[in-house]
Amino acid sequence: MIAVQDPIHHHAFDSIPAHGGGVLVHRHIPSNEEKKKLSKAVSLPKISMSSKTYTDLELLAVGALSPLEGFLNQQDYESVVACGRLSNGVLWPIPICLAVSDESRVSLSEGQMAALYYDDEVVGFIHVESIFSPDKNKEVYRVFKTNDVNHPGVRDVFNKGSWYVGGRVDVLMNSDRIGLSPYNLTPRDTRRIFQQKKWKTIAGFQTRNPMHRGHEELTKKALESVDGLLIHPLVGETKEGDFPADVRMKSYEVLIETYYPKARVILAAYPGHMYFAGPREAIFHAIIRQNYGCTHFIVGRDHAGVGSYYSPYEAQELINWFGRNDLAIQPVFPSVQSAVSGTQIRELLRQGIPPSPDLMRPEVTKVLLETPRI
Ligand code: ADX
Repeated sequence: MIAVQDPIHHHAFDSIPAHGGGVLVHRHIPSNEEKKKLSKAVSLPKISMSSKTYTDLELLAVGALSPLEGFLNQQDYESVVACGRLSNGVLWPIPICLAVSDESRVSLSEGQMAALYYDDEVVGFIHVESIFSPDKNKEVYRVFKTNDVNHPGVRDVFNKGSWYVGGRVDVLMNSDRIGLSPYNLTPRDTRRIFQQKKWKTIAGFQTRNPMHRGHEELTKKALESVDGLLIHPLVGETKEGDFPADVRMKSYEVLIETYYPKARVILAAYPGHMYFAGPREAIFHAIIRQNYGCTHFIVGRDHAGVGSYYSPYEAQELINWFGRNDLAIQPVFPSVQSAVSGTQIRELLRQGIPPSPDLMRPEVTKVLLETPRI
């Protein structure tokens, strides 16, 4: 277990600390300062963000990536790539980087501020601490264990700008930019709900797919040994062929309504995007769910995997290895009978064939088949 830096705070809220042992990071600009900050934006160099980087910014703002206060500087980036830790030793498996093009890099200088734009709108600011040219080959080998550009995460790294800009961010508030209300809950929101419900132990469940019978079995097994379950589907970008988030949210609603003990389940949207980094991403997903207040995190077969880059239980092995010393959240690996996979379900549904009820609940299938797809 990591040390709790602020035991009084920890005790007062009677909940798991943020990752790294401290309190949740908060990087939203207070509303009474927004106008002043916005008026300064025009005179600052501009950085345009991709939709994925923008979701990282939103996660940073609400503390989902605590203890990070911004995009990684060079020292932390190199340490994360080399050994999955920040330079202070805290476990951190995925580099959170702001990439810029050669052209944008020219207007930036270390020690100055830059304005962050998404869709031509100012969304925040970065205190530029370091600007560096990453060794992307090394990055993808360490993070994804391959440099194959057919891997969606690897391709993404190579397609980004060739400079990374690190530094603390300040983010303008936008309460429902991702939509999906009422499921857009911040780590502070979920922690408050857990506290109201007096749950001491909460298992977090990550998914990027509609839930099949394997997912149901996994989560229900976990629920046998905890007070509550946070079903926390990822709603940021995944990969081509995956079901859109709004449709998935409807499918989770009907599943929970019909088949779960509703008083013991919370459904919330996790606004992050997928990397498909398998084992490293399983640890990342656990850290984030700790920040949302979970005490346990479910890892099943081929967590955050793609193709056959990772072996089915590699994620469990890696998180188990690190879990003992470096994670306050406890990984759980419920054993399930169902061998169904998201790929198998997607393929059936793509052909308009309803999966058998052994694979997927009919109520879920109905939602998925009713939705027109291109
Ligand atoms: S993921 O990319 O978010 O990991 P998915 O939504 O399919 O993909 O999986 C969510 C969680 O369920 C992961 O922890 C995964 O390992 C687990 N899982 C999915 N299918 C099975 C299965 N048949 N048996 C055991 N675990 C499974």
